[in-house]
Amino acid sequence: MATQESESPLDVQRLREDFPVLEREVGEGTPLVYFDNAATTQTPKQVVEAITEYYYEYNSNVHRGIHQLSQEASVAYEEAHDRLAEFVGASGEREEMVFTKNTTEAENLVAYAWGLNELGEGDEVVLTEMEHHASLVTWQQIAKKTGADVRYIRVDDEGKLDMEHAKELVGPDTAMVSVVHVSNVLGTVNPVSELADMAHEHDARIFVDGAQAVPNRPVDVEAIDADFYAFSGHKMAGPTGVGGLYGKKHLLEEMEPYQYGGEMIRKVDFEDATWNDLPWKFEAGTPVISQGIALHAAADYLDEIGLDRISEHEEYVTEYAYERLSEIEGIEIYGPPLGEDRGGLVSFNLDGVHAHDLSSILNDYGVAIRAGDHCTQPLHQKMDIPASVRASFYLYNTRAEVEALVEGVEAAKNIFA
Ligand SMILES: Cc1ncc(COP(=O)(O)O)c(C=O)c1O
Repeated sequence: MATQESESPLDVQRLREDFPVLEREVGEGTPLVYFDNAATTQTPKQVVEAITEYYYEYNSNVHRGIHQLSQEASVAYEEAHDRLAEFVGASGEREEMVFTKNTTEAENLVAYAWGLNELGEGDEVVLTEMEHHASLVTWQQIAKKTGADVRYIRVDDEGKLDMEHAKELVGPDTAMVSVVHVSNVLGTVNPVSELADMAHEHDARIFVDGAQAVPNRPVDVEAIDADFYAFSGHKMAGPTGVGGLYGKKHLLEEMEPYQYGGEMIRKVDFEDATWNDLPWKFEAGTPVISQGIALHAAADYLDEIGLDRISEHEEYVTEYAYERLSEIEGIEIYGPPLGEDRGGLVSFNLDGVHAHDLSSILNDYGVAIRAGDHCTQPLHQKMDIPASVRASFYLYNTRAEVEALVEGVEAAKNIFA
């Protein structure tokens, strides 16, 4: 089928030149079709160059030396915090942006530094049935430690949150609402601002997991009124090993650190210690220096293209994938129907073919997708499926590549017929 890439708002062929890995072949000379972007996106030259420049020109520890290299590294690392704060709409600059290892560590930071102290018997943590394990397991275990209860907002048959149920659950006993912004399985875009209002009406806090939102749509944490908002660098054209935690300044100020050591202290004697300013109070030990600086480059890269346009392009590819896959008999696609606001991914199953077998056949066609439970075992249990296949798209993917996916699925269907 002929595809009309010209309808995309992006010059994808030009952008693909920024990602050398996309030129490689897999297996016996099959062009790579990379559709595993919800797991990790590819890294453009501009970001790799920022890492190279750091190591070739000013590799040094931060905040520890008065020599020039340390000063240059410190300034670049601090500025990266300001840049990422700005990227997600935080006006408090670096004080509201903590660098972590990833979204998971950001969840754990808040669960330990806030949850352990604030939660107790009689308190409720409200999650959703579509939470990633990063949020679900973390709050579940912190609730066990503190005696709090965990409640789950139902997901309906279309893969959307049952907001009537949310209204029933969020009440005077709610202390924390933790919700995924865009589901990594269903693609559902959750009404996080509405949920924030609900939480705040009851004086509860809201944590938003933005791992699948920050890479591909404009995010404004202040417009959402999120108390905490987390994301991962490796899902937004940045490097692995770095993520961000936005937190409202007054909350971060009130919280105790959850890791101790160097860098996070102000003054120490044999009896006690006091803490450094934000955000360093939450970045114990040598922090993620090169990764943080490279994440700055990733934010610049995405902003230069335009998050609105990236989002529009993802919709353009996703819609096509959804339509083409729907034409295959025996395919079941999960999540909201076409026409709804959806993240750039399609999760599905092919009748009679296990997700892992399908994934393996797709690999023969050069198509990299993800098969499994996508770190959402409870959601898969609810949907009564052992696993699913997920194709997830990014700014460099094309409708023509979707054809390779469709061809691979058709082949699997014939093999297992
Ligand atoms: C919605 C969501 N939350 C959290 C995570 C965890 O991200 P990380 O592994 O970078 O901590 C992911 C990663 O797949 C995700 O999709």
